[in-house]
Amino acid sequence: MCGIVGYVGHSAGRVNTGHNALDVVLEGLRRLEYRGYDSAGIAVVADGTISSRKKSGKLSNLVAELEASPLPESLTGIGHTRWATHGGPTDQNAHPHLSDGDRLAVIHNGIIENFAELKQELLRKGVTFRSETDTEVAAALLGDIYRNQLKGDASNGGLTKAMQLACQRLEGAFTLLAVHADQPDVVVAARRNSPLVVGLGDGENFLGSDVSGFIDYTRRAVELGQDQIVTITADTVEITDFYGTPAEGKEYHVNWDPASAEKGGFPSFMEKEIHDQPDAVLQTLLGRSDVNGKLTLDELRVDPELLKSVDKIIVLACGTSAYAGQVAKYAIEHWCRIPTEVELSHEFRYRDPIVDQNTLIVSISQSGETMDTLMAVRYAKEQGAKTVSICNTNGSTIPRESDAVLYTHAGPEIAVASTKAFLAQITAAYLLGLYLAQLRGNKFQGEIKDVLADLNKIPAKIQQILDNEAQIKELGQAMADAKSVLFLGRHVGFPVAMEGALKLKELAYIHAEGFAAGELKHGPIALIEEGQPVFVVVPSPRGRDSLHAKVVSNIQEVRARGAKTIVIAEEGDEAVKAYAEHVFYIPETPTLLAPLLSTVPLQIFALALASAKGYDVDQPRNLAKSVTVE
Ligand code: AGP
Repeated sequence: MCGIVGYVGHSAGRVNTGHNALDVVLEGLRRLEYRGYDSAGIAVVADGTISSRKKSGKLSNLVAELEASPLPESLTGIGHTRWATHGGPTDQNAHPHLSDGDRLAVIHNGIIENFAELKQELLRKGVTFRSETDTEVAAALLGDIYRNQLKGDASNGGLTKAMQLACQRLEGAFTLLAVHADQPDVVVAARRNSPLVVGLGDGENFLGSDVSGFIDYTRRAVELGQDQIVTITADTVEITDFYGTPAEGKEYHVNWDPASAEKGGFPSFMEKEIHDQPDAVLQTLLGRSDVNGKLTLDELRVDPELLKSVDKIIVLACGTSAYAGQVAKYAIEHWCRIPTEVELSHEFRYRDPIVDQNTLIVSISQSGETMDTLMAVRYAKEQGAKTVSICNTNGSTIPRESDAVLYTHAGPEIAVASTKAFLAQITAAYLLGLYLAQLRGNKFQGEIKDVLADLNKIPAKIQQILDNEAQIKELGQAMADAKSVLFLGRHVGFPVAMEGALKLKELAYIHAEGFAAGELKHGPIALIEEGQPVFVVVPSPRGRDSLHAKVVSNIQEVRARGAKTIVIAEEGDEAVKAYAEHVFYIPETPTLLAPLLSTVPLQIFALALASAKGYDVDQPRNLAKSVTVE
């Protein structure tokens, strides 16, 4: 989810008729900073060389660096704001990465899945590396091809040909931009499973990870397709596939204003992030298993022998992240047969918990800075437990203080109310559970491969729900005057009901409560009166233990007392229709994976109802994105 900008302007003789590349790139990075702010960097081509500056932290740190150590005027440049995946947010790991004797600069968004084997190949050729990133490996590969395979000779196709050959070797998701001192009026870019758009100017052309990278200069854009390479100069835009076959890009007019461009054209970051969820799940899955369904959690640096001896798992988290842990508990216990407790971090360390060297602590935190969770992790470490962090923010405090980390790759989550991070956290926790089952032999490789195959179908199924969101939006708008909404669920549907209630509380400031459906008759059913809205998350009718029948009878219990029932059910489940004012169907999926789908209508409902009340859904009252106090 990094921010990427490229620019080539025009010179009439020695007079720059274009903009100074530095100004264009910095402006673009400012608009793209929401995509990542772990570090930022710029490279320009001037006077036959590449000049670059890069700094960890926010863009303002780079600006200060540039004031202290200015770059030369230039017509050609690239820039990057980083959301770290491989390698912490340090100066060295910041982009651009240089190669070919510092005459080539590369920036990257995505994950190079085969970077480790490429790095070994390049090390054997005597290439040295200055960072721990997969991006530097891509830069070194590009430089090696340009210099040694193409002899640095423009007549052999130059940087464009080198990019084509390099992309034929790369696996994973990537947007790459490159400039070379030999070709001062060219930027070459490539994309696979990661966004890139071209901005068309008059005597100048632009590249951006989205249109906000150049919206201040042009509204004419060209979206690039999968596995395409684009070469821009001030006056030309040439597109090919990875093998040099020419391709056409379709031009379109950008009708967003700059502010909405940062939200991908959505009215709020929250709505954008709800729509980011297919990609958040996909990116979290990417690169973590091989074609045989073997999990390869390279970053999970905990001694496998220790993981085999784990006899208890305690999940530590707060809020939405705690509900992600509660969902994951069902899967982890089912797959690994390890007792798994989910504890609210702020309660955990005051209850004299039973923790020892055979306890595995799994903290779940989007920000990695939640003080309650950090203090709980520290306490558990003092008791001798091993700690794994599931976190969305590279290099934040909780992963740094944990023995190992499994990053969610949801991209920066700007809206205070967590959505895409929640689904990514569940996905990461499932990967951890499957990894433990693989390590301890609880499941055959074929079984794990089947679960991974089901997980890999989830992004498309989420998209299917999003494509049909109008109906649930209308209900949210229609219920803007609701004073109280209840949410029921069983099994993995129970934490989903809790999360649905939390979204409504956070965004619409109305009373909402989630219950285990079976618990209703033990007291809460007294709340039911005529017209009381009740959401019910219904399990698949194909599931076991007749859970479905039990939940349908819970629906009848509340309807008998006047409740208005809104049901989230699996496609094809006709039985629920007789007991619901509204039914929202989600695609079929195995029971344990259903929360990745059933949560989405509840997020959309809360967003629509709060928006209908005119509330700020990105920054709700009284809340903060990261609660860094106990
Ligand atoms: C979720 O919508 C809330 N913003 C809040 O409950 C959040 O999940 C909780 O504060 C934990 O934050 P963390 O994931 O950054 O640790």
